[in-house]
Amino acid sequence: MNQGKFITFEGGDGSGKTTQLSRTIDWLKSQGKHVLQTFEPGDSALGKEIRRLLLSGEHTPVPAAELLLFLADRAQHVETVIKPALAAGKWVVCDRYTDSTLAYQLAGRALKDNGQLRDMLAWAECGVSPDKTIWLDLSVEDAAARMASREAGGEAANRLDNEKVSFHKAVYAAFDNIQRENPTRVQRINAGQSIEDVQADIQTVLGQL
Ligand SMILES: Nc1ncnc2c1ncn2[C@@H]1O[C@H](COP(=O)(O)OP(=O)(O)O)[C@@H](O)[C@H]1O
Ligand SMILES: [Mg+2]
Repeated sequence: MNQGKFITFEGGDGSGKTTQLSRTIDWLKSQGKHVLQTFEPGDSALGKEIRRLLLSGEHTPVPAAELLLFLADRAQHVETVIKPALAAGKWVVCDRYTDSTLAYQLAGRALKDNGQLRDMLAWAECGVSPDKTIWLDLSVEDAAARMASREAGGEAANRLDNEKVSFHKAVYAAFDNIQRENPTRVQRINAGQSIEDVQADIQTVLGQL
């Protein structure tokens, strides 16, 4: 059986991940691929509970606890959802993964890391790293404008969306660094274009896989 491919979508809130992910899934299916659409945090049975703890705003975990909850969610997701799908030959397309944890929980929270935390991030992947990562690159200002209209359309902001501008700037800078450090895996896409043009760029990148 063919081993599938693991694709992740990354970028700030409002950069268009969910919009582009669903279009990408439709396109992959039209190409005859078997596809699994998934997301983090929360797309496993245990993960649903972890997601609620992380995002509802009922609790404010300290930065270390927040990081560990995200990593617990990841390990459960990889072992129970992602690995079985890859083994069945599916293309797994995931809305956020380790790069988001690095950007939000390490850089956004300004957690000091002497290398230990990056090792933990790698360990929590349980051996599954992306074949390709699509980084939807959109400025913090443009993303904030989109979020405002999305909320007007009825999708509520979560605890992390509501962080201050300096947090989102640190997240952006982290994604930028991650792309520079992993230029082969991480493809930067200009997310300020129309939905159709962003999707065309994504299809060009994934077509090369
Ligand atoms: N290329 C685009 N141009 C204009 N608006 C967009 C574009 N892509 C997405 N949007 C809108 O911006 C908002 C955020 O998009 P979304 O896909 O939910 O982002 P994310 O999942 O990264 O937070 C939504 O209201 C969406 O309809
Ligand atoms: Mg989304």
